[in-house]
Amino acid sequence: MRRFHLVCILLLVGGFLFCAWDVAWAAAETRPILTPKPGPAPRINGPSVQGCRPGRPFLYRIPATGARPIEFSAQGLPEELALDPATGIITGTTPAAPGEYVLTLVAENAEGKAERPLKVIVGDRLALTPPMGWNSWYIHYNRVTEQHMRNAADAMIASGMADFGYQYVNCDDCWTKHRNDKPYRDAQGNLLTNAKFPDIKGMVDYIHSKGLKAGTYTSPGPWTCAGYVGAGGHEEQDAQKIAEWGFDFLKYDWCSYGSYEHNQDLKVLQKPYALMGNLLKQANRDIVLNLCQYGMGDVWKWGAEVGGHCWRTTHDLGLMAANQLPSFYHAGLSNARHWQYVKPGGWNDPDYILIGTVGDARTGGPGAATSLTPDEQYSYMSMWCLMASPLIFSGDMARLDEFTLNVLCNAEVLAVDQDSLGKQARIVRQNDDELVLAKPMEDGSLAVGLFNLSAKPREISASWTDLGLTGKQIPRDLWRQKDLGATEGDYRAEVPPHGVMLVRLRGVEK
Ligand code: GAL
Repeated sequence: MRRFHLVCILLLVGGFLFCAWDVAWAAAETRPILTPKPGPAPRINGPSVQGCRPGRPFLYRIPATGARPIEFSAQGLPEELALDPATGIITGTTPAAPGEYVLTLVAENAEGKAERPLKVIVGDRLALTPPMGWNSWYIHYNRVTEQHMRNAADAMIASGMADFGYQYVNCDDCWTKHRNDKPYRDAQGNLLTNAKFPDIKGMVDYIHSKGLKAGTYTSPGPWTCAGYVGAGGHEEQDAQKIAEWGFDFLKYDWCSYGSYEHNQDLKVLQKPYALMGNLLKQANRDIVLNLCQYGMGDVWKWGAEVGGHCWRTTHDLGLMAANQLPSFYHAGLSNARHWQYVKPGGWNDPDYILIGTVGDARTGGPGAATSLTPDEQYSYMSMWCLMASPLIFSGDMARLDEFTLNVLCNAEVLAVDQDSLGKQARIVRQNDDELVLAKPMEDGSLAVGLFNLSAKPREISASWTDLGLTGKQIPRDLWRQKDLGATEGDYRAEVPPHGVMLVRLRGVEK
C-alpha cells in the first residue's frame, strides 16, 4: 500500500512537473513555429546539381533528415569518387573528362528509403545553386578564433543545419596579422596568420572531416576593412596559399584598394577581381569567389565575367539604418531590382541572414537576440530564397534556438533558393505597402511571395495576368508545407504587418 502511494505521489509530482515545464515552455516560446518537424523517414535535401572543375578535390555531404543511423549509397558514382555509407560524405577527385554525371543518391533507415538525383556537372562552372553556410562576421568580429570556426562546423552538424544543405563554414576578416603586429609575412613573402589562428591548415582539415567546406576572406588592398593584412601586391602568392590550405570559398573585400587607384572607372573596379578570379581558376581546387565591393559600378552586370560567383549588391546590411521597415527589407528591396542578371553560377548577394543571436556591427559588441519580429524573420528568409541569394547565416552558432532553426531550416522554403533553374524572382508589384515577387521553378511551378510592407494586416493578391498564369492552380503554403484549395484567376491572402505569405503555385493537370 505504502508503495502504491509512493508511485501515485511520484506520478502526481511528475505530472505537475511536466505541466509546469509545459507552461514555462509556452511562455518562453511565444514565437509561432511554422516549419513542420522533419519526420523519422529519410528525406534528401539540397541542390540537384553540383558544378565542379575536372581533376579537382571533390567533397559533398549528402544533406538528409531522418532518424539516424541512415545508410547512404549512390548509383552512378564516377569511379574517382567514394561514398562513406555511414556519414553520406562523398570524397575523391572529380573525373578528368568534362561532362554530366547523373547520380542517384539513396538514404535508407528503419523508417524508409529516399532517393534523389544529383547531377554532377564537370566543366568550368561552380556554385550552380547559391552557396549556403555560415560566416563569422556578425557574431565574432575581430574576436574570431580558430576554435570558433571548428565549433561552428560542429554546430552545423549537431543543429541539423547541414542536413538541410548548409555547408560553408566561412571565416571573415581578422585572421591575418593586424597592421600593428609585424611581421606580416615570412621571409619568402608567405602570408602569416595571427595568434588566434595557430593551425589554419588543421582548422580547414577539421571542417572538411565533417564533410563541410571552409571559407576565408581577404582584400585586394593592402589592408582589410578592419585593418588586417590584405592581399594587395601578393595576390598570386596568397591565392596559392589559400588553395594550399584547402579553402573552398573566398570573400574578396574591396576595403583599402582605393588607396592604389584614384578613380573608380569600370576598368579600375574590375581589375582586382579579374586578377583574383583568374588566379582562382588556375588553382588546383574549386574555390567559390564572393565579390564584396558593395555594388559599385553595377557589379551585377559584370561580376560573373571577372570570375565571381556571387557579388554583394549593397553596403553592409548590419550597418543599414531601419526606418518604418527593418534594414533587411532595405537591402532586399535594393537587391530585388537586379533580378535579370542572375544565372546559375552568378548570384546577387544582399548580405547575410542576421537572425538568432547577432552582434551589433556598429560597436562590434557581443551578441543579443534579434529585434526582428517572427513575421519579419519569415519575410527575410522568404525574400532571400525568392531572390536566389546566397544563404549565409551570420549569427551565433553556439546559441541556435528552436525558432531560429525553424526559420533557417524549412526544406521546402530552401528548395526555392536552391532550385536548379537558377532564376531570381521578378518584381511583380512594389509600392509603399506591398511587394510581390515571383520566381519560376525548374518543374514549371511558380514560387510567389506576398510581402506586407505596411504596419497593419493587409489582404494582398496577385492575379494570373500579373503572374503570367492560366487555369486552376494549387497554392502550397511553403512555410507550413501544406497544400491550400485550388484557385483560379488570382491568389490572395491576409498577410501580417511586415510579414509574408510564401506559396508555390502548381497548375492542376487536366
Ligand atoms: C565589410 C564587409 C563586411 C565585413 C567587414 C569586415 O566591408 O562588407 O561584410 O566583411 O568588411 O571588416
